[in-house]
Amino acid sequence: MTGTTKIAFVTGGSRGLGRATVEALAKRGVGAILTHQNNKQGAEDVVSLLKEAGVPARAIQLDVTETSSFAGLASEVRTQLSEWGLSHFDYLVNMAGSSHTGTLADTNEAEFDRVYAEHLKGPFFLTQALLPLLRDGGRIVNISTGLTRILYPGRIAYGSMKGAVEVMTRYMAKELGSRRIAVNTVAPGAIQTDFSGGMVRDNPEITRHITEATALGRPGVPDDIGPMIASLLGEEGRWINAQRIEVSGGQSL
Ligand SMILES: NC(=O)c1ccc[n+]([C@@H]2O[C@H](COP(=O)([O-])OP(=O)(O)OC[C@H]3O[C@@H](n4cnc5c(N)ncnc54)[C@H](OP(=O)(O)O)[C@@H]3O)[C@@H](O)[C@H]2O)c1
Repeated sequence: MTGTTKIAFVTGGSRGLGRATVEALAKRGVGAILTHQNNKQGAEDVVSLLKEAGVPARAIQLDVTETSSFAGLASEVRTQLSEWGLSHFDYLVNMAGSSHTGTLADTNEAEFDRVYAEHLKGPFFLTQALLPLLRDGGRIVNISTGLTRILYPGRIAYGSMKGAVEVMTRYMAKELGSRRIAVNTVAPGAIQTDFSGGMVRDNPEITRHITEATALGRPGVPDDIGPMIASLLGEEGRWINAQRIEVSGGQSL
C-alpha cells in the first residue's frame, strides 16, 4: 500500500447502492471502509471482492441510529487507517438507511423518531465524529431520494428527513469549504435493490409504473448509481459543490 492510496468510508456498503459505490470506487483504485448493520456476510463478501480488485478494504458493523457508538467507530477507523499507513480517509458517503411507509394520519411517533435517527441525526453526528479523520480537500456525498421532488402518499416522514439531508448538505458545504471539502447530495430515483422490501425490483405493478414514469423507460439499477458517485468523487467532480444531483433517468418529469 502506498501513502497515495485513496480510501472511502461508505455506510451501508454491504448491499444495494452502497455496495455498487464501493465496487465502482475500487475500479478507480479507491479502497473502502464499509459498514453493515446486520449483514456481516454480505459485507465480508464485498471486502473480498475489493481485495481481489487490489484495493484495501475493511468492514465494520454500524447502526447509524446508535450515536453513542460513533466515538468508538471513529477510533476503530483511525486504527485501521494507521495499519494501512494512513492518517486520513478521502471520501465519506452517507448511504445507509431503510425505508418507511406511512401517511401523516397513521405514522406514529416511534416510527417518525426511527426515520429521523436513521436518515438525519445519524448522518449528522457520524459526519461530525469522522470529520477529524477526513482529509482537507476530501469530499462528502449524502444520499437523498427522488422522493423529495416526486411526491407519493405514504412517504411523508422519509421524504421529509431526506429533504432535511439536502439542506444539511448545503450547510456542510458552507462550513467545510474552509477545509476545501466539497459536499453534495445524490438523489437516486427508484432503483432495483432490497430497499422497501425490494418492491421496485420484485413487484411487477410497481416496476411497470416506474418504467412508464421514467423518461429513459426503465427502473434504475445499482450500477446506474455507484459509478456515478465514483465519478462525482473523482478529480473531474472537484468543482461540484453544495448541489443536489438527481439520478433517476428522468423520473416523473
Ligand atoms: N433503492 C432505491 O430506490 C433508493 C432510492 C432513493 C434513495 N435510496 C437511498 O439509498 C440508500 C441505500 O438504499 P439501498 O437501495 O442500497 O438499500 P438496501 O439495498 O436495502 O441496502 C441498505 C443498506 O443500508 C444498511 N442499513 C440499513 N439500515 C441501517 C442502519 N440503521 N444502520 C446502519 N446501516 C443500515 C444495510 O445494512 P445490512 O446489509 O447490514 O442490513 C445495507 O447495507 C438509502 O439511504 C436509501 O434511502 C434508495
